[in-house]
Amino acid sequence: MTQNLACVLLVLGLIAGCVAAPESFHDEPLSAIEEQGMKIFQREPCYSACHVTTLAVAAADNPTGFVPDLRRTPRRTRDWYLAYFVDPRAVLPFTFMPSFAHLTGADADALIAFLQRLNRGVKTAKPEPVASKDIPSVSKNGAVYRAGKVVYRTYCLGCHGVSGSGGGTVGHLLSPEPRDFTDGAWMVKQSDNYLFAVIAAGKPNTAMPGFKDILSPLQRAEVLRYIEYFADPVSRERVEVGVGGEGNEN
Ligand code: HEC
Repeated sequence: MTQNLACVLLVLGLIAGCVAAPESFHDEPLSAIEEQGMKIFQREPCYSACHVTTLAVAAADNPTGFVPDLRRTPRRTRDWYLAYFVDPRAVLPFTFMPSFAHLTGADADALIAFLQRLNRGVKTAKPEPVASKDIPSVSKNGAVYRAGKVVYRTYCLGCHGVSGSGGGTVGHLLSPEPRDFTDGAWMVKQSDNYLFAVIAAGKPNTAMPGFKDILSPLQRAEVLRYIEYFADPVSRERVEVGVGGEGNEN
């Protein structure tokens, strides 16, 4: 309901004239599909009511606290947006966005084209190799497992699923689908350095987001340990039932 309140407040702001109209695209006109997407953006009630302000105001300081400036949001793939429209909180746990699952086919594609136009100036991060010394050293044990589980259940579950094999609510909407962490043959070939870098920066050209601005290095190291357990069902079972509890059990 808070999102409705937010919309109402912003609509009132618009009516009262304290918020400017959306900027136009002087630098380069919108393409046909982007133009179509902008019409859908303006037609959809919460998009236009909530986000119009952030098109108009250089909202680096994000005055409302919860409506992001769509020109500054991270670059996302088409499948990320499709999943986000269907189940926003499965993708971004604390978002106020309501579901736009009714948008399908050409409408969804046009809206995505418009949204990708808005933030096209944002640079995408590539996973840079991380030196081992920059990865907080956490061993596999019960306490780390539980800490990693909290992070995973909050931020990764919607895509990677409760069993780690990709069966989250929106996992099937993605292409490629989320990585199957229960695949021991794959997991054993991955270095901590690579996995830690992907969790920080995301995986290019997939819906896998980067978490470096959301999770601390320690949280990223803990969730990394947690996902490794998916590929090792025996240790996972033991740590779940508390056998091998707090000690190191590499
Ligand atoms: C919006 C959906 C989504 C969310 C949320 C998400 N992932 Fe992913 N993840 C993916 C996709 C898609 C891939 C890419 C699969 C591929 O390339 O085959 C992936 C891949 C990965 C990989 C493997 C990289 C590789 O080379 O395939 C790791 C590790 C990973 N995710 C960890 C996480 C962790 C940890 C979280 C939570 C902190 C998380 N992911 C949240 C969708 C997601």
